[in-house]
Amino acid sequence: MAKARKVFLCRSCGNAQSRWLGKCPDCGAWDSLEETTLDPAGEKDSQRGIAAAWGEVNAGTGGGEGATGGGISGMGAAPAAAMSLAQVDAASAASGGIAGLNRLPSGIHELDRVLGGGLVVGSAVLIGGEPGIGKSTLLLQAAFAWGAAGKRVLYVSSEESAQQIGMRATRLTEGGGAGGESESAENSGATKAALPASRAPDNLFILAETNLARIVEQARKVAPAAIVIDSVQMIYKSDIPAAPGSVTQLRRCCADLVYLAKASGVAIVLVGHVTKDGQLAGPRLLEHLVDCVLSFEGDRYHSHRVVRAAKNRFGTTLEIGLFEMTQRGLREVPEGGGVPAASGEARPGSVVCPVMTGTRCLLVELQALTATGFLGAAKRKSSGLDTNRLAMVIAVLEQHAGLRLADRDVFASSVGGIKVAEPASDLALLLAIAGAHYRKGLSAGTAAVGEVGLGGEIRAVPQMEQRIREAARLGYKRVIVPPLHANERAMVRALKDVEVAEVKTVGRAVEQLG
Ligand code: TYD
Ligand code: MG
Repeated sequence: MAKARKVFLCRSCGNAQSRWLGKCPDCGAWDSLEETTLDPAGEKDSQRGIAAAWGEVNAGTGGGEGATGGGISGMGAAPAAAMSLAQVDAASAASGGIAGLNRLPSGIHELDRVLGGGLVVGSAVLIGGEPGIGKSTLLLQAAFAWGAAGKRVLYVSSEESAQQIGMRATRLTEGGGAGGESESAENSGATKAALPASRAPDNLFILAETNLARIVEQARKVAPAAIVIDSVQMIYKSDIPAAPGSVTQLRRCCADLVYLAKASGVAIVLVGHVTKDGQLAGPRLLEHLVDCVLSFEGDRYHSHRVVRAAKNRFGTTLEIGLFEMTQRGLREVPEGGGVPAASGEARPGSVVCPVMTGTRCLLVELQALTATGFLGAAKRKSSGLDTNRLAMVIAVLEQHAGLRLADRDVFASSVGGIKVAEPASDLALLLAIAGAHYRKGLSAGTAAVGEVGLGGEIRAVPQMEQRIREAARLGYKRVIVPPLHANERAMVRALKDVEVAEVKTVGRAVEQLG
């Protein structure tokens, strides 16, 4: 049997060092090493234990609802044998490839789209976000939806008691029954009712537990199609002499749960906390272990929430899901909803930009403010925007549009807590800063989109047609764009109620401010 040995694990990257160091040599994090006893045999034993525990129930009940047969013998007891890719290909083609993956759609379209069409059977999803952003709310709603669709769901809460979850559920379904129906009738227009089911479905099971062995035991009894673990940081294995949330516990618990998912065919959703700087707490290792990493973003002081995939083995990472936090839980924001509609007056320092996120176009308002600063120590701060692009846009403005910003503080933000990373938002940011500086705004109902080059030129961006159409649909009368291709120009002519102003250079763009 392998000997247990003492090592120091890094809280940030999960790598092991043989002695304590002030700085992790692998990831450079300070004061992140913590002492643990590593027992290589234990890790494998515990997974075998899980497989065995699950095996019993499948043998006993003839397979749980979510169990896809044969997984356990393939992964645990018998050693896996190498097979040719052609064989694997044939097997996956028979099941329909990625599109034909066995999925559990929740009916919450914004969530399903980010997952690539629904939760994949036997996959592990990690969802991270700041405290109070609404992770528990989203997952309880998703659990309701899966339950209502006839799937058995086990919602494990390691942070809240069953009563607290009950209270949350009541809050989400308040005015259920008859009231709920009239409510959904009211909402039959643009927005969907907060919850697909008006009362708790019978096959949604709640468990307040932190011990992994007892969770697996209950999962075995319930035999669910999906398990939600809220949050993985509070789960512990009693055979590890480390506190819940420590690297060792996290690593082992997460590995065991992922193993459980693969072996039994149950889809597992793990909730993870994030650190101060927005990274998922716990080592990167968690992200490598799971199939899909979602981040739940947004400002807790704003009502908009965005679900974004940082990694997805079964779908694109470009899609986002947009929600709004209401008195009755999260509500889906349908296409085109919840974004700034063309407002009446022009405001200096504020420009609306159609940005693409995956297949959908969102109109986002970018704002900027310039204030007196000190030469050589001027501040450049941004929220929801890339600081490096902000610095670049300021440099371009100085060089090619003659603005003097060296002793001005510049603040820029995207309104509503939506993070904008697309270079196509450069032009809107540039116009917001120039507008704030000159105290001039674009005329009412004007949006701007385009990438800014270092030579002061405005560069073409993809999906121009979709952006212009979306802006026009939301009532914008004018869009400032880079020089268009002939076919794009033909398309724009066909659109009656929107005028397009092509600008070649930064100087010309700034002239648009009136
Ligand atoms: P929660 O889901 O507990 O966040 P997390 O699990 O990410 O820590 O709750 C998020 C916040 O949302 C909480 O402060 C209260 C608010 N909230 C509403 O505004 N409406 C609701 O219906 C619910 C359930 C919560
Ligand atoms: Mg929570």
